[in-house]
Amino acid sequence: MKLKDYLEKALAEGWATGHFNVSESDQFRAITEAAKELNTIAIVGTSEGEAKHLGYFEAVALRDAFRKELGIPVFLNSDHHKSVEAAEKAVDAGYDSIHIDLSAEPYKKNISWTKEVVEYAKKKNPEISVEGELGYLRGESKIQKEKIIIRPEDLTNPDTAKDFVSRTGVDRLAVAVGNIHGLSMDEPALDIERIKKIREAVPKNVALVLHGGSGIPDGQIRAAIEVGIANIHINTDIRVAYAEALREEFSKNPDETAPYKFDSSAREAVKKIVKEKLELFGAKNRI
Ligand code: G3H
Ligand code: ZN
Repeated sequence: MKLKDYLEKALAEGWATGHFNVSESDQFRAITEAAKELNTIAIVGTSEGEAKHLGYFEAVALRDAFRKELGIPVFLNSDHHKSVEAAEKAVDAGYDSIHIDLSAEPYKKNISWTKEVVEYAKKKNPEISVEGELGYLRGESKIQKEKIIIRPEDLTNPDTAKDFVSRTGVDRLAVAVGNIHGLSMDEPALDIERIKKIREAVPKNVALVLHGGSGIPDGQIRAAIEVGIANIHINTDIRVAYAEALREEFSKNPDETAPYKFDSSAREAVKKIVKEKLELFGAKNRI
């Protein structure tokens, strides 16, 4: 089954697929092993910065290796690629999925460049899934030290969403519905009614994606899935777990120099979070 098929299955059955970011191969292992243990698919993402660190070809090779080793569907996404060139680089390297994020550009440019990426990607690989983004998502994947104010104009408008997907041909749409990137200082408040309206406006074969999944209370995540979110992105929660486990390991064993020893607790910490999220998303036993 293609990624598109799993996303349609998730929407029809009322669950969501998880998307988790990596910049190291041990995080890749943690995510794919967690998915294997829960008998579900793994979607692994690299932002431009993460991909630069790990390597595009290396990420593709890891995807192939974990598919082979674990025998589950593993999909690789170019998360928040912010130019046509960067997105095409991921297509050329063999990514299964592209997220072209031109949400900071004027609407017309967002449409024409996103469409250009869709056409380029589908020509190279008809099975590829392409995500566009509409609305403005503040923050970055870290623990926020300042309060982030979401403005009404940041939010995705349902009618514009309909227009955007029909003019670009994207398979997935990332929406701004009260979410931000990173762990916010105050409790996030998703606009569930808005998600519902976007879901009604956009054709069913286009998946709605919720970014900034870290720190959103479980009840809101469940409510978002109930009204049609089919894919949820998590980065900060696993970054924090990874970093905290490493810090603890070094404080307990300051003389340890073997990476395969000092990073195993960090890998386990990531795996634990990923399993918790996949269970929350209702993704268990879906392959
Ligand atoms: O694309 C990545 C995600 O949107 C990550 O968001 O760091 O708030 O979990 P997060
Ligand atoms: Zn994101």
